[in-house]
Amino acid sequence: MDEAFLNMDVREMERWLREEDESRLEALWRAADDTRRENVGDEVHLRGLVEISSFCIRRCAYCGLRAEHRNLQRYRMSSDEILACAREARAYGYGTTVLQSGEDYGITREWLADVVREIKAQTALAVTLSLGERPDEDLTAWREAGADRYLLRFETSDRELYDRIHPPTDRQGLSDRIAMLKRLKQLGYEAGSGVMVGIPGQSYTCLAQDIALFRELDLDMIGVGPFIAHPDTPLGRSELPSAPQGEQTPNTELMTYKVLALTRLSCPEANIPSTTALATLNLAQGRELGLQRGANIVMPNLTPVQYRALYEIYPAKACIQESAGDCHACMKARIRKIGRVPGTGPGGRKHLNASAAH
Ligand code: 5AD
Ligand code: FES
Repeated sequence: MDEAFLNMDVREMERWLREEDESRLEALWRAADDTRRENVGDEVHLRGLVEISSFCIRRCAYCGLRAEHRNLQRYRMSSDEILACAREARAYGYGTTVLQSGEDYGITREWLADVVREIKAQTALAVTLSLGERPDEDLTAWREAGADRYLLRFETSDRELYDRIHPPTDRQGLSDRIAMLKRLKQLGYEAGSGVMVGIPGQSYTCLAQDIALFRELDLDMIGVGPFIAHPDTPLGRSELPSAPQGEQTPNTELMTYKVLALTRLSCPEANIPSTTALATLNLAQGRELGLQRGANIVMPNLTPVQYRALYEIYPAKACIQESAGDCHACMKARIRKIGRVPGTGPGGRKHLNASAAH
């Protein structure tokens, strides 16, 4: 591969983020796709997503589930409902189920540990948790119960911007997601993180530094999607400042592809989803183009239909009406259409490059 794509520093990545020339971008897409194929192959792993609770104590300035969004009806699934979704994931042949929620302390350490144990006993699926910033004791208990992976996006590597879009709550002290990601690895979880593309206040340099941080943390999974304005949030109402003109990143489909491609080139072995937020910007092609520009994972939604619309992180989310069966059939068709194959097995992180393995 062209030297220009290997071991890029932050300045070179920033130059790519600003690139507009179509033929040069074609070369970037090709390099990312080649790197994807060489490192993680043609399999596209399906992770069955279950949005288990929409309660949240946090006040994230971009997220529709924020505590201050008071006229949102909240739900928390029962363990029987969650187990039914996990069995559905197994029936569809998925290797993993992802349990995601707002930061909800109604989800207690013991209750969730039981749910994880039961999923493992009944299905043998890999279990990924995405439940926000939780205390060490919770993470330890859930790992002991059999949870395999944990997702926690750091959202931005710029501390000042991070603090601006994550106002404090009285429940916990200063948030340190980077420390929690390191801790997750120590506990033996595969650790996933990621950022939104185009949040007001995010500069090109910030975004390039985010990608450099993915590499530095040696993440096992990396999710990136465009920021989508939610009218019931401060960022969605443009109440927070943008970066100076010429420095603010756009929250576009194209910028998201650039970040996906650079992420694959920086972290060749990572599992990288083509996200629902991307599909929301381009329902016809977004997932496919994501898979052709670095991604190797999709996350079909298994959340029962009556809850889906209530898990409104951002508006007009793709596939909000689809049943689990529709989503499953649709994803498989999309994978096949672009000449890829649905993955088998748990689809964990591969360690191919000795230097990256620990
Ligand atoms: N637009 C796009 N993505 C969002 N997320 C939260 N709010 C939004 C939004 N308005 C992403 C965050 C979070 C993940 C679960 O969803 O990155 O970590
Ligand atoms: Fe979700 Fe088609 S992409 S149902």
